[in-house]
Amino acid sequence: MITSVMTTHEIRQKYLAFFEKQGHRIIPSASIVPENDPTTLFTGSGMQPMVPYLLGEAHPMGNRITDSQKCFRSQDIEEVGDNRHTTFFEMLGNWSLGDYFKQEQIPWIFEFLTKEIGLNPEQLFVTVFRGNDDLGIPRDTESVELWKTTFKSVGIDAVDVDFAESSGMQNGRIFYYNESKNWWSRSGKPQQMPLGEPGGPDSELFWDFGADLQLHEQSLYKEEPCHVNCDCGRFMEIGNSVFMQYKKVESGFEQLPQLNVDFGGGLERIAAAQRNTPDMFKIDVFETMIQKLEVLTGKTYEQDSWSFRVILDHIRASVFLIGDGVIPSNKDQGYFTRRLIRRAVRFGKKLGIEQTFVSSVAKAVVETYGQHYPNLSGNQELILKELLTEEEKFLKTLTKGEKEFEKLFVEKQGISGEDAFVLYSTYGFPLELTEEMAKEQGQVIDRVIFQEEFKKHKDLSRSGSAEKFAGGLSDHSTKTVQLHTATHMLLQALRTVLGDHVFQKGSNITPERLRFDFSHQDKLTDDQIKQVENIVNANIENKLPVHFEILELDEARNRGAVGVFDDKYAQLGGKIKVYFIGDQATGDYYSREVCGGPHVDNTGELGHFEIQKEESVGSGVRRIKAVLSATS
Ligand code: ALA
Repeated sequence: MITSVMTTHEIRQKYLAFFEKQGHRIIPSASIVPENDPTTLFTGSGMQPMVPYLLGEAHPMGNRITDSQKCFRSQDIEEVGDNRHTTFFEMLGNWSLGDYFKQEQIPWIFEFLTKEIGLNPEQLFVTVFRGNDDLGIPRDTESVELWKTTFKSVGIDAVDVDFAESSGMQNGRIFYYNESKNWWSRSGKPQQMPLGEPGGPDSELFWDFGADLQLHEQSLYKEEPCHVNCDCGRFMEIGNSVFMQYKKVESGFEQLPQLNVDFGGGLERIAAAQRNTPDMFKIDVFETMIQKLEVLTGKTYEQDSWSFRVILDHIRASVFLIGDGVIPSNKDQGYFTRRLIRRAVRFGKKLGIEQTFVSSVAKAVVETYGQHYPNLSGNQELILKELLTEEEKFLKTLTKGEKEFEKLFVEKQGISGEDAFVLYSTYGFPLELTEEMAKEQGQVIDRVIFQEEFKKHKDLSRSGSAEKFAGGLSDHSTKTVQLHTATHMLLQALRTVLGDHVFQKGSNITPERLRFDFSHQDKLTDDQIKQVENIVNANIENKLPVHFEILELDEARNRGAVGVFDDKYAQLGGKIKVYFIGDQATGDYYSREVCGGPHVDNTGELGHFEIQKEESVGSGVRRIKAVLSATS
């Protein structure tokens, strides 16, 4: 089958036009920053702005809606660099708000993919919900029958099979999976949904890049059977029809007053399938950006595609974030814009770029998207200026590191692996840059020593600290250590939400919960509690590294550490121990606090943070009790 390649913009237009033809009204994308939704910092799916309507409120545009929604998933930052992860993406969406259901959705989405944009149906595979008796949710045989009929219409006998995760493809085309794969709600699996949250079983669509590429054989998963949800890269999810029909209640699930459909399809992924390229960055929207970067670096995309992709994703995302008003800062959403820009700059350095470059690549983003997103073309000047300012600020940090390098180099006639580690841990100076500068002086950095120092530092913060600085915590079980780190995160979130008058007045941790007393006059509102929880959870999801440094008192103060400076547990020969939560490489810290420890290595280990109680314990002091629960 020969299909002509389409641009991403053409695919978006065709999708919207197709669903308009089926009686849908096209609505513009909502902002990346959710309005009136305190549960999340960013819009991460097309469905988020639709929640009230899925629950039954009347949508002003009717009960069939379609759009292409700008989405940002901050938890994917570290994954960017491979051939399919991005932090920013567009999600094509179509909704039935109590109107049509499976019977229409399944043949329509198939028709769009195979007829409108010409995907080969032989390369399409689908999944459905296996059912779960404990939850009282049945196996989705209805979707299976509809898929069979739909595939039959193009001459394909689609076989349904179960347990592909353990038994492989078994010549199937329709696969059953459990709720960890085929259930969708904003908060994940049915077991994790809060009361009142809507959700339902879903049916995902996968594109097969083909066995010929031997992706499975070359992957980490080669010993296990390949199946559509295998992570080897042979299959890519390109769309998901959620049959949003349940609401979580005390006793389990109850039917929503209406049957809804929530379809979401990653536009860039669909465009990659349309070109049959497993590398999503090879679609048209990245072309101009790649060309600019190739000129700037004198390197080709193929020479270091990992660094190219990080820069492409991060700059594109920053442009869209700033376009929606999220300027770089140390707080809330702005913190992510800052992190993205700083990472892009680091990877630019890695590619050998010496001058500022972010805004020139950003210009290519505006050129590519400006026609479809007038908020980008209209705000081009502001966007480019914000990017340049942030880039220059970060370059200064890097310059400090360079100066220190030179000083050390002269003093010691060279840079050892230990020195490289000091540059990294104290000045946030990346190892790759130290290596490069050393190379210019004809010297090679001993990576093994660097790694050993790194490990020592980590081990020290894990165990050494437990002996030397024992205290503060009555036991060092995993759970208490986790809650201890959560306490630091809570203090920082309270200071962000309530103000800098908030200090710790007392803390008590058991393996079950944390209890934290702090200075503040008034009872916290529900909204403030929610905001505090959201900030802590967002910083857990961001998997921030945790480390400590032993500092002079003055230095600790200058570096913004909060806490009790005469804390006996944190003292060490006139110096003091300070825990930092955040990316050491960029020096962007979420929390800095004087403390004896111990703490976890990474906030990603904490699970879900929830405040259970807020009360007064005397004049001007409030008390919070909070817990951590597992997220998966
Ligand atoms: N809301 C569904 C998703 O994001 C379509 O996968």
